[in-house]
Amino acid sequence: MLFFVTEKFYSTFFCIFVPNMKIFPFFAQKLLEWYQISQRNLPWRGINDPYKIWVSEIILQQTQVKQGLEYYNRFIARFPDVKSLAEADEQAVLLHWQGLGYYSRARNLHFAAKTILQEHNGVFPNEYQAVRNLKGIGEYTAAAITSFAWNMPYPVVDGNVFRFLARLFAVDEPVDTGRGKKLFTQLAGELMDKPHAGQFNQAMIEFGALQCTPTTPDCSICPFAGHCLALAQNAVANYPVKQNKTQTKNLYFYYFHIIEGIAGQAHTYLKKRTEKGIWQNLFEFPLIESETPLNFDELSQTESFQSWFPQNAQFKLIIDTKKHVLSHRVIYATFYTVTSRRGVLHTPIPPNFIKIPSNEIDQYPVHRLMQYYLESQTS
Ligand code: ADE
Repeated sequence: MLFFVTEKFYSTFFCIFVPNMKIFPFFAQKLLEWYQISQRNLPWRGINDPYKIWVSEIILQQTQVKQGLEYYNRFIARFPDVKSLAEADEQAVLLHWQGLGYYSRARNLHFAAKTILQEHNGVFPNEYQAVRNLKGIGEYTAAAITSFAWNMPYPVVDGNVFRFLARLFAVDEPVDTGRGKKLFTQLAGELMDKPHAGQFNQAMIEFGALQCTPTTPDCSICPFAGHCLALAQNAVANYPVKQNKTQTKNLYFYYFHIIEGIAGQAHTYLKKRTEKGIWQNLFEFPLIESETPLNFDELSQTESFQSWFPQNAQFKLIIDTKKHVLSHRVIYATFYTVTSRRGVLHTPIPPNFIKIPSNEIDQYPVHRLMQYYLESQTS
C-alpha cells in the first residue's frame, strides 16, 4: 500500500525513497468527486468574503456545524462586515457569542476587526502573513481564510483532517504534538490539488466530518476503503493517535443569586469578571471559588461569605453541582438563592458588584454556567 504515499512524505518520515513518483495521483480527484456529491450546503461555502469565512471558522472552532449555523447567521445579521464589528461595543459582541464559550475568541475577533479598520483601511488583507498577524488568527485560520477566499495553497488541518489522514496512512505520530501537526500539514500540502486549494481544503474537512467520522464510520461506502491502511489492519478505531498530556484541575464554584425586594421589583447583584481568562468581561453572581469541595458550614466561614451576607439572610440550594468541562479544568458549580428570612435583606454591596433590576439580567453577557442557571429558573 506504500505506493499511495507521497515521495517526500515517506522519505522524510519513514526513510523510504520512492524515486520520481507522484504517489496517490488520484487522491484529490477522488476526494473532489466525493465532495461534489456529498457536501452540505453551508452559508460560508462557495463565497469569497474573507470576513464571513473568518467569522465562520472562529465559530466552528467552538461548536459543531449545526449549532454554529445559528450563531453564524445571527452574528452576520448583526455584524455584516468588518466595519460594523469594529464599531460595535464589546458587550454587544459578547452577547452574540453567549453560550459558545471561550469568549477570548470573540474579543479577539473584535480586536482584529478594529486593527483591519485602522491599519488596512477596513479592507481585509489578502496576504497570508498579514492575515496571520491579526489577533486570534493562527496557522489554521489563516490557511482557511486565504485558501477559501483566494485559493492560496495553504493546507487546512483541523481535527477532521487529522483523523482522515491518520487513518488513511496509519500514521502513528500523535496528532497533538508540534511534530505531529507539522507532519500532517506537510502531508495535506503534498496531497493538495493546488489550483483548487479552497475546494480541496473544504472537501478534506467535509470528508472527516461526514464520512471518516470519529466513531463508527461506515467504511463500506468509503471511496478510499481500498486504499486505507488503518482499515486494512482492521484498526480504524486506533487512529488518530493522541499523546494527551493535558492535566485537568478541579475547581468548585459557589454562586449566590441574591434576591432583594419583592417579586416584579426585585434586584440582584452581578460582578464583571475582570481577571484575564476565558470569562473576562462576562458577568456573574457573587462567587466563592475553591480548589476543594466545601459544605455549607465551611462556605459560611469564608471571609467573603461573612462580609457579604447579613444575619437575616436565608439560603436555598437551587442547583447542586453542575459539572462544566473546559480544556484544562473541570468546574463543579453550586447555586444558592439568598433571600431574607424576615424584614428587608440589606446586603452590604461588595466592592466591584453592581446592583441591577432582576428583570434586566438578560442585558448582561454571561458565561455558560450562569446561562444554565438562568434558563433553569425561567423554564
Ligand atoms: N469545521 C471547520 N471549518 C469548517 C468548514 N469550513 N465547514 C464545515 N465544518 C468546518
